[in-house]
Amino acid sequence: MNILSSSILAADFWKLGEDIACVERTECRYLHIDVMDGVFVPAISFGMPVIKSIRRRTDLFFDVHLMIVEPEKYVEEFAQCGADLINFHLEATECPEQVISKIRKTGKKAGITIKPGTPAEAVFPYLSEVDMVLVMTVEPGFGGQKLMLECLEKVRTIRKYAEEKHLPIDIQVDGGIKKDNVHLALEAGANVIVAGSAIFREDAEANIRAFLDAMAE
Ligand code: DX5
Ligand code: ZN
Repeated sequence: MNILSSSILAADFWKLGEDIACVERTECRYLHIDVMDGVFVPAISFGMPVIKSIRRRTDLFFDVHLMIVEPEKYVEEFAQCGADLINFHLEATECPEQVISKIRKTGKKAGITIKPGTPAEAVFPYLSEVDMVLVMTVEPGFGGQKLMLECLEKVRTIRKYAEEKHLPIDIQVDGGIKKDNVHLALEAGANVIVAGSAIFREDAEANIRAFLDAMAE
């Protein structure tokens, strides 16, 4: 199943609730939530208090993308705040197995993420343990960048390997995805599509609907 995940990093935080309500009025059920620590990536975004506040007001699926070092220290807290899925970066930890098992213990879905410079093969040892692989299609840290087409080759490699091993994983792509290039990501084998700046500008509802139409073609 193809899924769109709306990235609130591109929302207007003055009216975050209104922007989330726009998503709720569409068929999009996933909210992509980017947590940045200023260490793993240069930028700092937001964290637990924001997630907790919005969790009280919406039933959307919280797809939390942790761009933080030592995620093993924080997964339980993000689960308590309301994450439904926790994605951590393979490059951000020395103990990926431990992070996955901690996420599993919370009962939430687990995802592993790789930056553009990390080879596809690096996630192979973890594929049977996770629900999702997130292949970054830009350098993590900022919205509004251009899709790095070469990253889609890694999506192809991971999808092929997962099929060979009969592993029913989701493959998510994040960064630079627009309604006119989303078909490239889907063709490569991605089925969960993150979009931020292409959604939260002008009419978010109309942008989501146009995206979903493009994904259904
Ligand atoms: C970037 C974030 C993305 C970001 C995508 O590090 O992980 O989720 O919001 O933004 P766009 O869709 O604008 O590239
Ligand atoms: Zn993200």
